[in-house]
Amino acid sequence: MPEQVTVSAAANIALIKYWGKTGAPGNQPATGSLSIGIDDLRTMTRLRFADADTDIIESDLDEQAAARIRAFFDDIRNHLEINRNFAVTTGNNFPTGAGLASSASGFAALALAVNALCDLQLSGTELSRLARSGSGSAARSIFEGYVELIPADDAWAQQIMAADAWPLDVLVAVTDAAPKTIGSSEAMRRTAATSDYYGRWLDSHAADMVEAKQALADRDFNRLAEVSERNCLKMHATMMTSRPPIIYWQPATLAVMQRVRELRMAGTAAFFTVDAGAQVKVVCEPGATSAVADALDLPGISNLIRTRVGGAPRVDST
Ligand code: PMV
Repeated sequence: MPEQVTVSAAANIALIKYWGKTGAPGNQPATGSLSIGIDDLRTMTRLRFADADTDIIESDLDEQAAARIRAFFDDIRNHLEINRNFAVTTGNNFPTGAGLASSASGFAALALAVNALCDLQLSGTELSRLARSGSGSAARSIFEGYVELIPADDAWAQQIMAADAWPLDVLVAVTDAAPKTIGSSEAMRRTAATSDYYGRWLDSHAADMVEAKQALADRDFNRLAEVSERNCLKMHATMMTSRPPIIYWQPATLAVMQRVRELRMAGTAAFFTVDAGAQVKVVCEPGATSAVADALDLPGISNLIRTRVGGAPRVDST
């Protein structure tokens, strides 16, 4: 067994969203979802066995994030019968907890690291389930490219298509790098319990999945654009109508969305999506990316990250 492993996993962005859980343990999603891996937004994690009789978290994380990692290790000890403590160092190369999928890349990286350190030889499906027990969207970050999460009693993700089968670019417009005021699990709970639209969200979801998968198979950019924007707006409409309402957007979030819609109406191949935060991700055909980036020079955008669909996990054992 290696003494120490260093891994990295990429964030992913949902085009068809996961918003709502079944209530069963382990973040079982109420619906399927479809995502793209994001090449340059990564969590780097180093893991070794701890000599101490507790887990050691050597990173600058808030209490809540550290508690989630400890709970993840407890779960692993229970389910995989590993009688060891861990020392972990982890960090992101992008703002944490701001709706940029840090929990997805973070728990995918932890699952990969435990698998390598303990030489568990888990399959992709098993790794995906393990990552999901830390955070629902993390199930998808085990794979690069275009990825689908299958809802089931023990949900898992699988790759639909490699990134190089349809190379698209992604611009991330950071409008507010501060951590979000309400975490996604609590926000999902509130939405399911109080939004009048949650039932419709669930009922109309399967059709969006079918449409998006067909658009991928046909490499039909406009069809993917329309279903992705619609699904994103539906998720936000559902959470905005919770009691009390959940509104992650900032004025600049809406400004970017409007600008992207104008561009597409004028024939530019670009569409937006927004997860549980204020940042807007813009998916572009590579030929359009520079023009879109120029058009996003808007007030309130503190950073524009230029990247692409990809995000293969990396594992180094020493
Ligand atoms: O996995 P979580 O708890 O971070 O929830 C992710 C929720 C969204 O990012 C809004 C949607 C998704 O499918 O990733």
